Amino acid sequence: MKFFIDSADLKELRDLAATGLVDGVTTNPSLIAKSGRDMLEVVAEICALVKGPVSAEVTATDHATMLAEGRKLAAIAPNVAVKVPLTPDGLRTCRALADQGTPVNVTLCFSPAQAILAAKAGAAYISPFVGRLDDIGTDGMQLIADICQIYRAYPAIRTEVLVASVRHPVHVVAAAKLGAHVATLPPNVLRQMYQHPLTDKGLAAFLADWQKTGQSILG
Ligand code: E4P
Repeated sequence: MKFFIDSADLKELRDLAATGLVDGVTTNPSLIAKSGRDMLEVVAEICALVKGPVSAEVTATDHATMLAEGRKLAAIAPNVAVKVPLTPDGLRTCRALADQGTPVNVTLCFSPAQAILAAKAGAAYISPFVGRLDDIGTDGMQLIADICQIYRAYPAIRTEVLVASVRHPVHVVAAAKLGAHVATLPPNVLRQMYQHPLTDKGLAAFLADWQKTGQSILG
């Protein structure tokens, strides 16, 4: 499973990139607004920091302007993936960008039917939002199961399932069990994934015993 980081905070991204566990980054207009930075500048800096795909989202709602925005975003760096919303104009733009070789992440997916449309439009990634479905009392992970099942039934589909709106490590584990290709993690979720009290307890005991030996591996 690939891990993307769902953030436009350069400091967070630098820290997490150093773990060697980060395969890409996703941003959205809300995350860019939160960064307080110029979008084109911040996307360029993220693209230089991380080798993998960096999703940058269009903000127009009509096809012609979305396409122009998508082309401008794609020109920032070779590892930009243009993000478009799952609307008729968004999918039309997805097809046009995909046909010119630009990877597209189709976002705001909340149903298997929408995911089928995105695959047909040539999306490189489909982003189903599990947390926001859970928030309204629907099982977000069932949507991941449905999309994985559908996509597997058609080996010609190359669209990767990018699990979005992840809220905790349980989402990540459940998505991995289903074979989802990617999870985009808020920084705190990646950090939570390291944690287990028995790891801390076990390490403290090992180190206490080691101290008693008076040894040092490096001499
Ligand atoms: C995905 O690409 C989105 O940016 C993100 O996962 C949305 O998450 P949220 O529901 O926590 O805002």
